[in-house]
Amino acid sequence: MAGLAVNVDHIATLREARKISYPDPVAAAALAELSGADGVVVHLRKDRRHIQDRDVEILRQTVQTKLILEMAPTPEMVRIATNIKPDVVTLVPEKREELTTEGGFDLIVHKNIMEETVAVLKNSNISVSIFIDPEPEQIKIAHKIDADIVEIHTGKFCDTPKATKHDKVFSAIIDSVKFAHKLKLGVHAGHGICYRTIKAFKGLNEIDEFSIGHSIISMAVMVGMQQAVKQMRDLINAL
Ligand code: PXP
Repeated sequence: MAGLAVNVDHIATLREARKISYPDPVAAAALAELSGADGVVVHLRKDRRHIQDRDVEILRQTVQTKLILEMAPTPEMVRIATNIKPDVVTLVPEKREELTTEGGFDLIVHKNIMEETVAVLKNSNISVSIFIDPEPEQIKIAHKIDADIVEIHTGKFCDTPKATKHDKVFSAIIDSVKFAHKLKLGVHAGHGICYRTIKAFKGLNEIDEFSIGHSIISMAVMVGMQQAVKQMRDLINAL
């Protein structure tokens, strides 16, 4: 059964809207774990627009499952990661002007810096995942530079209105997931997955873990964190 890693960035987005101390992503992470999450994800951005250094430091002490830190491969972030030692680092490209991470890493362009970053993080006993678009060439390079995991970008599929699992955007995901699994890479999938689109992944057993944030936090605003996580957990259990 695939795991569910819950991204709590948007709890921090709400807090930062007022620059006060609540709602606290640390509390949300604990509730997510109590409701069946297998991991907690936070993205520490250069501009600190939502998650703050303090959140990552406290989460390292409180998360009981697995702490996954999303970050850009910059010297500042590498220093923070090797200090805090999350269980997994997911390397993501980052642009200041974007609303959320827009695309996967282009490993053809950034191979050298990524290879170097993977080595430094692994040397600190941190598992390294790379967020990439569903393309065979990207997977090949991720494997070559010794990444442990690839996170396949599902945003193009999830953000296309009425896209189904029979569409081309989804076949790219199927092929990538199977190819990465064949190369013995860990396989994560994430971006834009909601309570409807998760159902398309039925039978794709090569996926080890889904990384889901916005849809769960949006549901949590309405029904509470525990019910929102449990509902997604049930849908993943049924895949
Ligand atoms: N995976 C990665 C690498 C991401 O950058 C994000 C967004 O922070 C997610 C998964 C979760 O995406 P969403 O919030 O759309 O579920």
